[in-house]
Amino acid sequence: NLLKRSYHENVIKHYENPQNVGSLPKDDPNVGTGLVGAPACGDVMKLQILVDEETGQIKDVKFKTYGCGSAIASSSFASQKIKGLKVWEAKEIKNQDIARELSLPPVKLHCSMLAEDAIKMAVKDWETKRANKKKNKKGKK
Ligand code: FES
Ligand code: FES
Repeated sequence: NLLKRSYHENVIKHYENPQNVGSLPKDDPNVGTGLVGAPACGDVMKLQILVDEETGQIKDVKFKTYGCGSAIASSSFASQKIKGLKVWEAKEIKNQDIARELSLPPVKLHCSMLAEDAIKMAVKDWETKRANKKKNKKGKK
């Protein structure tokens, strides 16, 4: 059918069976949350990571995407890809890597950009929380 012809099978696969959909507790000190929107189309993506404080390893990933099939597929693929990585490795993921895997056409590149931005923002949020925690500990001593 038309859908199958115009979208790469990897997009369809993730779209029909997205991985890691859900939410993590935002206030958990070990959870980083990234929330990004694409001004061009109004789509929104939330991606959260649960990080091991000691090792910096991403133990769990959850996402919610209100958007097109490519955005959902991008977040599903990205969530699988960063699970188990260290936060600094996850930051290196480029939207081109996602777009290549899903064979996104040029008009859909911003959908994978959402996933890259959401990952970066989630890591940053976690880093900020961790820095604040350290500061608070020092303050109390
Ligand atoms: Fe239609 Fe994003 S523009 S879902
Ligand atoms: Fe805007 Fe996919 S995120 S069209």
